[in-house]
Amino acid sequence: MDKVYVQNIIENAKAFKSGKLVSSVAGKTVAMMFLENSTRTKCSFELAGKRLGLHVLDFEASKSSFSKGETLVDTLHNLYFIGVDAVVIRSGENGLLERTRAELKYPIKLVDAGEGNLSHPTQALLDYMTITEKLGDIEGKKITIVGDIKHSRVAKSNIELLNLFGTDVHLCAPKYFMDETIKNVIWHDNLAEAIKDSDVVMMLRAQRERHEKLDYSFEDYVEAFGLNSEKLEKYAPNAILMHPGPVNRDVEISSELLDSKKGEIILEQARNGTYVRMAVLQEVLSV
Ligand code: CP
Repeated sequence: MDKVYVQNIIENAKAFKSGKLVSSVAGKTVAMMFLENSTRTKCSFELAGKRLGLHVLDFEASKSSFSKGETLVDTLHNLYFIGVDAVVIRSGENGLLERTRAELKYPIKLVDAGEGNLSHPTQALLDYMTITEKLGDIEGKKITIVGDIKHSRVAKSNIELLNLFGTDVHLCAPKYFMDETIKNVIWHDNLAEAIKDSDVVMMLRAQRERHEKLDYSFEDYVEAFGLNSEKLEKYAPNAILMHPGPVNRDVEISSELLDSKKGEIILEQARNGTYVRMAVLQEVLSV
C-alpha cells in the first residue's frame, strides 16, 4: 500500500457511499475463497461484488476438489479458464498470496481478505475511512491499538497504513501479545497510560484459537486490558472507540460500553467495509 493507492480507494469508497460513483466493471466474475471463517469480510465482499454488477461465485473449499488433493495454483488456473477474473482469498497461512502469485501462469487476480497474522489490507482501509469520516486529517493524531497485537493481522495492516499518514501509533499489550519486530510505534503494557488522551482507541480480540503455546492467565489479561465505560471516560473521554470484529463481549470490551453510543462506530466500520471493498474490486478488475 502507498499513500496514493489508499487515497484513491478511499475517495472511490466515499463516492460509492454517497451514490456519486457507479460500477465500471459490471459483468466480470469474482470468486470468494474463504479458507478461514468470516462474517464481515466475506459478506461485504460478496455484497460489494453484487452492487458492482459482478457475477459472484462462492468457492466452498470444503466442497471443492481441494479435499481431493488439488493444489491452490491448479485450482486458480482452472477457475481462470472457467471464466473467473479475480479471487478473494482469506487464509490462515502467512505469505500464501505472495507465493501463489509468483507461481501463477495466467492473469487471474488475487485479493487479500486477511492472511494469517500478517495482513488484512481492506480492514485497514475501512478503518482509515471510518477514522477520517469522524476526525478528518489524521496526521499527528494519537491512535492506540490494544490487545493481541502479536496474532492480529488487523493490527499489522493498520500500523502500516497509519504510519503512511503520520499518525502517532501506540500499542498496548502484555508481553506475551507484543511483537518487537513492529517498527514506528510506541509500546505500553498499561492500559490507562496507553489510551490517555487518545483520539482513537482500537480494541482487538484475544485470538485464543492461536494461543496454544502461551502460558498466561486469561482472567488476568481481561482484568488488565479489558475496556469499559469508566476507564474510557476517565482516560480518553474524546476518543472514538473502534473494533474490527468479531467482538468478544465482556472480554476486550464490556457489554455496557459496546451497547452505548460509543460502540456505534463499530457497526459503521462494518458498513464502510462494503464501500471500501467495492472500490478495491473495481480497482483490481479495471487493470
Ligand atoms: N474484521 C474481520 O475480518 O471480521 P471477519 O473475520 O468476520 O471477516
